[in-house]
Formats: sequence, C-alpha cells, structure tokens
Amino acid sequence: MTEILTGASARSVDRLAQSLDRGLVPVAVFGDEQIYREELRKIFGHAWLFLGLEEEVSEVGDYVLRRMGEDEVIVSRGDDNNVHVLLNKCRHRGAVVCREDSGNTSNFMCPYHGWTYGNDGSWTGAPKRPRAYRQLDRTSWGLIKAPKVEVRWGLIFACLDPDGPSFEEYAGDALWYLRGFLGADSRGLHALGDPNRWITRTNWKSGSENFGGDNYHVATLHGSVSEIGVLPDFRDANEGNAQFDAGNGHGCTASANYAPSLGLTPFGFSQEVWDSFDKSDLDDDHFKFHETHLLLTFNFFPNFSVLRFLGAPDPDTGHVPNFLMVRTWQPVSPSQTEVWNWMCVYKAEPSEHYAAAYATGMQMMGPAGLLEQDDMAVWEGAAAAATSVMADMNGMEYNYQLGLEGMSAGGPADDLPGPVLGRHKSYSEENQRSFFKQWRKMMVEEA
Ligand code: FES
Ligand code: FE
Repeated sequence: MTEILTGASARSVDRLAQSLDRGLVPVAVFGDEQIYREELRKIFGHAWLFLGLEEEVSEVGDYVLRRMGEDEVIVSRGDDNNVHVLLNKCRHRGAVVCREDSGNTSNFMCPYHGWTYGNDGSWTGAPKRPRAYRQLDRTSWGLIKAPKVEVRWGLIFACLDPDGPSFEEYAGDALWYLRGFLGADSRGLHALGDPNRWITRTNWKSGSENFGGDNYHVATLHGSVSEIGVLPDFRDANEGNAQFDAGNGHGCTASANYAPSLGLTPFGFSQEVWDSFDKSDLDDDHFKFHETHLLLTFNFFPNFSVLRFLGAPDPDTGHVPNFLMVRTWQPVSPSQTEVWNWMCVYKAEPSEHYAAAYATGMQMMGPAGLLEQDDMAVWEGAAAAATSVMADMNGMEYNYQLGLEGMSAGGPADDLPGPVLGRHKSYSEENQRSFFKQWRKMMVEEA
C-alpha cells in the first residue's frame, strides 16, 4: 500500500478484493479524499486517456487544452506534424503557459518571465537570453511531455507511464468494440462543434461504471422519456439487452436493434449512406453484432465513454437521426466531475445529416438533455453517501450483485458475437464488477 492511503481509506481498498466476489463495493470508493488523491496517481497517471479528436488539431500549430486527471495539458500539432501532449506548466516557476482553450501558434510564451516553447514543447528562448542564460541547457528545459501518444480512428489517446502497456495491450479486446463503433467507416469521426463541458456533483466513477454496464437503470430512471413518446418503449429493455465484458475494466452494454423495423441498415443508416462507408476495418462478427445490437454504451477504462443512439424519425422526411457521442468523466474532486462531451457523426455521412444528429444528441445527452438530466440527478447520491457519518458507522456498501450465481435471470449469452471475457443477457453487473477489479488492481500496484 502506498504512503497516501492510510487507515480507513487503505482498509476500504483492501476490502474491495473480497467484497467484490460478493458484489459489494465500500461507499468510501466513491468519495474518500485519500482514495481520490491516490486515483489521480495510480489510475490517471498510468491509464491510456482520451484527449480529443485529431481533427481538432488538424493543421500544424493547432492546439487545444485538455485534462489528464487534474493536470491541464496542451494537445498540439507541432511543426514536425506530430501530435504532442504537453503539461501546461512553465518549467521556470510553474505559471500557466497557454491560457486560450484553442488556437494556432508556432510558440507558447509564458506570461511571467517570457520563457518560450515551440509547439512541440521544446525550449526555444527567453528574454535577453545572451545575458540572462549563457549556460542554460535548452534541451533539458522543454515542457514536460506525455511519453506515449496514439491516434486511432481520428481519436487521440495518451498515457503518462513510459513503462506501462502499449495502447494495444491496454485496450485488449476493447479494440474490437472500438473499431466496430468508431471505425465503422475507416475515416473515423467528425465532431459537430467544440466539446460541451459541465460540472456535476458526482464522483467520476459513477458515469464510467454506468456507461460500462448499467442496463438495469434504464427502464426506471429513463422510463419517463418513453412515457412521453420521445423514444420507443424501453421499459422492459433489460430483457433484450446484453452486457459484454471486454476485459481490463472495459465494458459494453447493447440493446436490441430496431433499425431494420424502420427500413434502415443494421447500423441505422439508409442503404445509400451505408454503401458509402469504407467498412474495410470491420470483420464478420462486427456485422453480426450490429445486426442484433445497435444502441449501445461503452466505457474504456477508466473514463472514456461512447454512446450510440437513434432518434425519432422526422415526421416530414422520415429521416432517422443517428449520432455517436464520445465523452470523458474528468475528475475535479471526490464529489465533482467535469463532463466533456463531443457529439459526432461518421466522416462518411452527408453534411445534411449534421443538424438532426446534433439536435437529437443534445436533446438526449447534452447538458440539458432528457436522459442526461435523469442521470446527473441520481449520480450525486454515490459521492454524497460516501461522506455520510451514518453510512460510515454502519459499514455501508453498494450493491453490485446482479448476475451473481443464483441471483438473476438471464445468464451467459454465448450465442452473441465478439471476442470478450463474458457476455450476459438481461440482469447482470458483471461489467461493473470487472471495472472495480481493474480499478483495485491499479490502485494497489507499485507506481
Ligand atoms: Fe514562466 Fe517564469 S514562470 S517564465
Ligand atoms: Fe442513463
């Protein structure tokens, strides 16, 4: 155990190893200050994290500000045409070097004393350098960089651990899912505008574990969206849903595909649009998967989530809006999370689809979205209960027992495609248990 975790905080993490076998998670995991501080180092300091779309930095000199854990980083395209991920802290005295959310520049000049860095992070100069810094080794004073950066399907990922697993090793079987969702057209995704951002009073794991596996909440929490007729009746959705444990804490839920009943291809597009996709990255199992399951959520451990959705048909044209949403759950404090949300379409889609896709995405999952507000309201509970005196005095644990031996209907779903550890129909929280197993594994590993 590390020096950060002591006393009750350490015992909560230790206890998780045994309690998970019984489907139980100590509430402290969602709100303990020490555990949160340790997560920033052990989880966010070693995982592969999503930072944005490559098209956001498509030109040399383009940059955007993003977060890795609580650290702000500059994601830039350097003069060398590579994507760089740079800690936004001046090496001289730590002042914030870049204060614009996005832009294009050849250099970042610190406002304090004027140290200047190239768009690849290298140290390029300082005021009065011949008199002030006669012997400074410029090669040693560039901005701190993420050692590993990967671009897949037009998405940028980075990892702060030079000795950790490669992106392939870390993603494991999740690669197959990501390829099916995000690489259905090999040109990747196009974001409809800048990411929306908003702060919620939740622990970051509430969103992650929900997107990675929580079929069970949909019928209850989002039932009103069905009742008012905005979406199809999914109040019995659990019976048709499935859970896919992709390993390493990554998880997917998917529900029955109703696109064919609307006269659409299994991916939810008209035949003409679907024919224009470059589907060369898909294999036979991808097609089988999407024939039976279209609506899905996915969480790439720890905090990168994907949602794929169809909206209601347009009453005049019959067009069915189809959108992909990608988002991160950025830790702000044990009880605060900043959501970063990109509404996306595939690059292959015609631009006349954009407005309907964006409107549907915002209506459902924007900061004031019908589904989003439902989730935000209830996710406050997990972090709040974690600081409750009565909860602590009574050793309160959260219940993740769906799908345990003898507990639930459904069970394994070996007839479904996909290279996964386990597939579960109907009532299961196997994915969430896998999420917390991975979480604990990383929390107790030596860093
Ligand atoms: Fe940046 Fe001094 S803190 S130049
Ligand atoms: Fe939800």
